Amino acid sequence: MNKVEVIHSPALLPLYDLKDKVVVVIDILRATTTMCVAFNTGVNKILPVASPDECFMFKEFDFIIAAERNAVRVPGFDMGNSPFEYENPLIAGKNIAFTTTNGTKAIKMAKAMNPHSILIGSFLNITALSKKIKESGRDLILLCSGWKDKYNLEDTLFAGAVIHKLAATYGMHDDAALSAYFLFEQHQDNLEALVRKSSHAERFTILHLQTDDVKYCLQQDTLSIVPEMEGEFLVNLGLKNEVLIMKF
Ligand code: MLT
Repeated sequence: MNKVEVIHSPALLPLYDLKDKVVVVIDILRATTTMCVAFNTGVNKILPVASPDECFMFKEFDFIIAAERNAVRVPGFDMGNSPFEYENPLIAGKNIAFTTTNGTKAIKMAKAMNPHSILIGSFLNITALSKKIKESGRDLILLCSGWKDKYNLEDTLFAGAVIHKLAATYGMHDDAALSAYFLFEQHQDNLEALVRKSSHAERFTILHLQTDDVKYCLQQDTLSIVPEMEGEFLVNLGLKNEVLIMKF
């Protein structure tokens, strides 16, 4: 049986060995949800970037530049980090340079530790993601992006949902995974009621967010794509494979 571990914050990464493992980066509200929607709309590649300044440099290379800090789009950028924005068909075929408060940071920190692979997880693609993990036959790290290195509820809740889906083939060996598993088990019948109590949902309320991003990010299995890292970029390899099959 393969092993699954949950890392509740990128700050804990130095305590773990990612070598040869599949790492799923989780930022339910909202970066990894948004990335899944962007690829479903037909985005070509997403470049996770550390800072808005670095991200802005890619404008001259015909990238869409997207930046969020503290849940708000950074002024002067083309897009922010609401998944609703990424349903716009005008982004199809484009490359996006993307920086967010926590999600893109977690991706780059995981990348620097050279795991076997990095996948992007959300409730929207949870079944396709779980299938891809199972097919890997590798041990699994579920990396929660948290909030500025602190624990957040929704990312750990999602980690528990994935562990539930993989229970027949992945075993838990630490309390971090167990706590995620039992958090999901206790709230699986009404995820929204729990997540609406989260600190990030409260931030959205204080900011008078015009869209219901919490409800959107808790939809389950609306997408069948699994974005993954190829070099420094996130891509939709599933689409690439489909195109190759069609060509031959
Ligand atoms: C993040 O990456 O920290 C979050 O997705 C922030 C947000 O967009 O609300």
